[in-house]
Amino acid sequence: MTATLGIRPLDASFGAELTGLRIAGDVPEADFQAFLDALHRHHVLLIRDVPNDPAAQVAFSRRMGPLEHHAAASAVHPTHPEIFCVGNYAADGITANFARGVEQWHADSSFREVPSAASLFYGAICPPEGGETWFLDAVGAYEALPEATRARIAGLKGVHCLYTLSEWNRRHTPGRAPMDEARRRAFPPVAHPLVRSHPVSGLKSLFLCPAVISHIEGMSVEDSAALIEELMEHATQERFIYRHSWRVGDLVVWDNRSTLHTASLFDHEKHQRLMFRTTVAGSARAA
Ligand code: SIN
Repeated sequence: MTATLGIRPLDASFGAELTGLRIAGDVPEADFQAFLDALHRHHVLLIRDVPNDPAAQVAFSRRMGPLEHHAAASAVHPTHPEIFCVGNYAADGITANFARGVEQWHADSSFREVPSAASLFYGAICPPEGGETWFLDAVGAYEALPEATRARIAGLKGVHCLYTLSEWNRRHTPGRAPMDEARRRAFPPVAHPLVRSHPVSGLKSLFLCPAVISHIEGMSVEDSAALIEELMEHATQERFIYRHSWRVGDLVVWDNRSTLHTASLFDHEKHQRLMFRTTVAGSARAA
């Protein structure tokens, strides 16, 4: 850490809270490098009491690399198209992307040829209860697999498909429009290894996105689903999970190449939720 930054572990086997970091495009290089090192070491970082400043979030995120523009163009921020708005908020030109929050473990944009490296998620409006984001230590989960299972899944590839995810969302959130042909053509299915290596740390992790993977290459849909379910049952043990209860002003940054995450339910008829996500593009195919 630097003279100005502090770090303390979260109440989980991974993740840490970082203190003293200003979220802005001109953050000093030493602080930025300390932040990146901490992210690669802890996989999930929490920064509290961050002002609601979409431009500053975008500028800070850009320090990490080029940003993705979300595939669901209707849910982007009206003045900052790099921000994907999540929740049930619909006002001020924002129509946040609302999925019912049914558990759906994933890493962001796994359906892209080059999946995202990291995401930054800001709590602008947070419900007083529920609406947590749950994180899973995909490195720890992989390392704890029996040797025989590791050998069984080595070299297997899951086929990630945005259309599969869209249909899953439609089953769980009635009323959602089907994905149009243009987006289907823009995001064809792509195969990524079930076990991938982190490009910086070299650590291996489970790359499982059950609602996005249509099947495992060379396996039937049924056998693929059974294997993914078996692996997810192992990976979702409490010891690999951190559940983040949001406070307004929280910024949580996660490494999409070593963790999985999912939204969770909240009473969307009683409460509002608005979250701003910037998504840092990956620099290489999952390997
Ligand atoms: C996400 O999956 O990127 C959003 C998670 C959440 O809404 O808590």
